[in-house]
Amino acid sequence: MLIKFLLINLILFLLFIIHVINSIEQCNSKETCSSCLSLSNQCAWCTQNSTDISTRNGSFFHCDTIDNLQITCPDHLISFKSYHYVLQNDSLSNAINNTSQAVQLSPQAVHVVLRINDSEKIPIRFRQAEDYPVDLYFLMDLSHSMLDDKEKLSHLGRILATKMQSITKNFRLGFGSFVDKNVPPFVQPAPNTVERPCPTSYSGPCVKAYGYKHHMSLSENVTEFEYQVQEAPVSGNIDAPEGGLDAVMQAIVCDDVIGWRNDSRKLIVFSTDAGFHYAGDGRLAGIIEPNDGECHMTNNEYTHSDKQDYPSIGQISAKLSEKNVNIIFAVTQSQLALYQTLTELIDGAVVGELKQDSSNIVNLISQNYKKISSSVMMMVSNDLPDGLTVKFTPDCQENKRDKPECTVSVGGVLNFEVEILATKCINNGSATTFSIYTHGLNDKMRITVQTNCSCSCSKVPRQINSPKCSNHGTYECGVCTCAKGFYGRECECDTASPTVESKIERCKKPGSSDVCSGRGQCVCGRCKCETATIEPGQRIYGDYCECDDFSCPRKNDLVCSGPDHGICSCDKRCKCREDWTGDDCSCTTKTDSCLVNNTICNNQGVCECGRCKCNKDSGYLGPTCEDCPTCEHRCAATKDCVLCKIFQSGSLSKEQCDRCQYRFEIIDDARKDLNHRLCQFDDEQDQCRFFYTYHTENDQLVLRVQKTKNCRRILSVRLTIIIIVSSILAFGLFCLMIWRMLATLHDRREFAKFEQEREKAKWETDVNPLYRQATVKYQNPTYRGYKVAAALDSNH
Ligand SMILES: *[C@@H]1O[C@H](CO)[C@@H](O)[C@H](O)[C@H]1NC(C)=O
Ligand SMILES: *[C@@H]1O[C@H](CO)[C@@H](O)[C@H](O)[C@H]1NC(C)=O
Ligand SMILES: *[C@@H]1O[C@H](CO)[C@@H](O)[C@H](O)[C@H]1NC(C)=O
Ligand SMILES: *[C@@H]1O[C@H](CO)[C@@H](O)[C@H](O)[C@H]1NC(C)=O
Ligand SMILES: *[C@@H]1O[C@H](CO)[C@@H](O)[C@H](O)[C@H]1NC(C)=O
Ligand SMILES: *[C@@H]1O[C@H](CO)[C@@H](O)[C@H](O)[C@H]1NC(C)=O
Ligand SMILES: *[C@@H]1O[C@H](CO)[C@@H](O)[C@H](O)[C@H]1NC(C)=O
Ligand SMILES: *[C@@H]1O[C@H](CO)[C@@H](O)[C@H](O)[C@H]1NC(C)=O
Ligand SMILES: *[C@@H]1O[C@H](CO)[C@@H](O)[C@H](O)[C@H]1NC(C)=O
Ligand SMILES: *[C@@H]1O[C@H](CO)[C@@H](O)[C@H](O)[C@H]1NC(C)=O
Ligand SMILES: *[C@@H]1O[C@H](CO)[C@@H](O)[C@H](O)[C@H]1NC(C)=O
Repeated sequence: MLIKFLLINLILFLLFIIHVINSIEQCNSKETCSSCLSLSNQCAWCTQNSTDISTRNGSFFHCDTIDNLQITCPDHLISFKSYHYVLQNDSLSNAINNTSQAVQLSPQAVHVVLRINDSEKIPIRFRQAEDYPVDLYFLMDLSHSMLDDKEKLSHLGRILATKMQSITKNFRLGFGSFVDKNVPPFVQPAPNTVERPCPTSYSGPCVKAYGYKHHMSLSENVTEFEYQVQEAPVSGNIDAPEGGLDAVMQAIVCDDVIGWRNDSRKLIVFSTDAGFHYAGDGRLAGIIEPNDGECHMTNNEYTHSDKQDYPSIGQISAKLSEKNVNIIFAVTQSQLALYQTLTELIDGAVVGELKQDSSNIVNLISQNYKKISSSVMMMVSNDLPDGLTVKFTPDCQENKRDKPECTVSVGGVLNFEVEILATKCINNGSATTFSIYTHGLNDKMRITVQTNCSCSCSKVPRQINSPKCSNHGTYECGVCTCAKGFYGRECECDTASPTVESKIERCKKPGSSDVCSGRGQCVCGRCKCETATIEPGQRIYGDYCECDDFSCPRKNDLVCSGPDHGICSCDKRCKCREDWTGDDCSCTTKTDSCLVNNTICNNQGVCECGRCKCNKDSGYLGPTCEDCPTCEHRCAATKDCVLCKIFQSGSLSKEQCDRCQYRFEIIDDARKDLNHRLCQFDDEQDQCRFFYTYHTENDQLVLRVQKTKNCRRILSVRLTIIIIVSSILAFGLFCLMIWRMLATLHDRREFAKFEQEREKAKWETDVNPLYRQATVKYQNPTYRGYKVAAALDSNH
């Protein structure tokens, strides 16, 4: 984890270094103010003349990074940034009744001043207004096959209007129709079929083919719409494709006839069941004049149907964009693929599948309307000046035609940015205007752009053949532009005359015999220093090439601890940036890291290079001198002095006591002197405890002694040990006795129990039936003496 973090830091640091080096190298290569400033916004120009700068110790590149020049040429540098200000910023709003227009894009006008190659970002807000006016013009193929669709539409008109009015209250409908050019081979040339091209089976009204007829201008009158659709007669032609594009072109461009409103979302619904003719097809009928994209309507009928060719898809697409019209192709399934391809070529076109009898037309329109209205596509007007690029961020999503398109619902706000970049001077620095707008809507943002190409120093009249340039060049912004045949910083060199010996002397530093310090070439009395150095981005410079960027003290192999700490000046010393000091600028002058509890280094040291240097004899250690491992010793060392000086007791003799060179202060309660170390001891003579604190002040130890002792009786250490030891012994004995007693008691009880058990035992006495006496008594029938028998008996 840590390693990863360090690695990332290292990489970022390297990238930063590379970036800095690159911009230094690039800036240094520019020799005029305007080319310097247009290279990158990192470069700045120093207007001071060369002589002036060469007396300075820093580099004398006129074009350098802003950071470098802020050190070497702080009072005469030119650098500026692109900026913009808002000219008009009406707040986003809905239309109020129909007196004012809705504001959907803010701001409405800005002025941008651009530095070349320095882009400027302008934040933009877009909000879909509620009840935004919608003009929907229904353009219907009225060839005979569409008869049933026409019937259906005339019935669905009111439903369509209701549905659309639920989306926006400000809704208008119009109606027009088309068939095809009334010229062979698009229609049958036979006279009877020309007049009535419908199939013979159909007996209703049928008129001859026509290019485009406008039936009803945009209006809120739905009854009128239904009536017009109902009344429109059908017609017919031979070939499958129809002349729809003719009609679309007229419907777009004839604003007055159709009645398009300026500030409305304009929609054409193109409904057909067949393909379309496009530019070139007219040749079949011998019509070769191309479509001119103009309005040619008389008595609501297209007059140039047989004079001009069909428009091309490109023309239609361009006109739709120009007039901000969206188109919905409502086509039957068989034509879906064809019109799908067409929508891919036209901005703001969508396609929907129409049922055979148009019964789904209402849903198709409302769905596609939502699709169109929820997508916001930012466009840039055609008058975008050459050399400007405009980018929108976020891009939302890039659609097929690389247009930034975002989705937002009604009432929702979209925040994005437009970034404008000038790659060259535009219109000689005077203002030009272009606009950005949202496709399909009327909202525009006007952007006035001005490129600031001239450096302010070039406004001072240029001095042609100025004496500053040896009368051979133009002096401007601190540098000479030499006339042809001359060169050198002051145009003092002449290409015709070769280098002369005396001029070589001018390349030697006074008191030195090396030409250009051995690091450059002497050209016309001036040193041209080597550019190749060991490390990239480091330069050799100075009148005698005696200065360089790399001879200064280094830290971690970085000159002056790196460019963000300081830069190397000509005298081989580092010039440190703010907050840095030291030979190699590695020392921070900030003391934050030394601060603890608002004191620097706990008052026990000084802050050097962001680290605490603790006073040596204070005994304090640690990053903020907060630790004092040896401080207890001080207590012991000062104890006797305190006893003899303050309490007139202790073991010191009077002579020794006089040697106590501390400063004593008497205080009430040493334990409340929290900032200093506390010492406490027992006075062995009166068994009382005394307290004092110590600290150093001006290298002297200050002892602040509490005036009274704490005289609760204190046991001596020896006595305490004896008491503790004897109590441990007593306790041990006591435990032993208890254990012995318990054991005896227990034994007794066990023995008694045993005895009792034994008492209880009863012994059964019987004769063993198997037992036979070893003697058998027989009566000797002959024996009469009883005594002998009895004696025998008793022997058993
Ligand atoms: C703009 O910058 C690019 C690279 O950053 C550079 O190549 C180009 O020359 C610059 N344009 C001008 C006019 O200096
Ligand atoms: C440079 O400018 C200083 C004053 O800023 C002036 O005294 C000196 O003559 C100028 N040198 C040249 C060569 O123009
Ligand atoms: C340039 O350096 C010298 C010493 O090397 C010093 O006396 C002088 O003030 C410096 N000049 C500037 C403009 O820093
Ligand atoms: C425009 O005005 C709106 C408030 O009406 C404000 O929030 C917005 O920041 C303004 N935009 C600019 C670019 O000033
Ligand atoms: C807008 O019209 C409504 C009625 O339709 C009315 O009450 C309201 O005052 C009008 N607002 C303005 C600003 O005219
Ligand atoms: C809108 O303006 C027209 C005339 O331009 C007017 O006939 C209509 O009544 C107005 N509608 C509202 C809602 O104010
Ligand atoms: C709508 O059109 C019908 C038929 O054309 C007409 O009778 C009616 O007056 C119109 N309504 C309005 C409000 O214009
Ligand atoms: C519509 O725009 C045209 C020119 O773009 C202008 O002449 C006309 O007055 C505008 N109409 C309305 C009602 O704003
Ligand atoms: C640009 O403007 C300057 C004066 O501002 C003028 O001298 C120069 O001729 C102009 N250049 C062009 C191409 O118009
Ligand atoms: C163009 O830049 C210069 C600085 O070189 C500045 O003084 C001037 O005001 C800028 N012009 C504009 C129109 O911002
Ligand atoms: C700051 O002082 C408080 C009491 O004054 C102490 O508790 C704390 O430890 C001290 N902090 C440091 C870092 O010394």
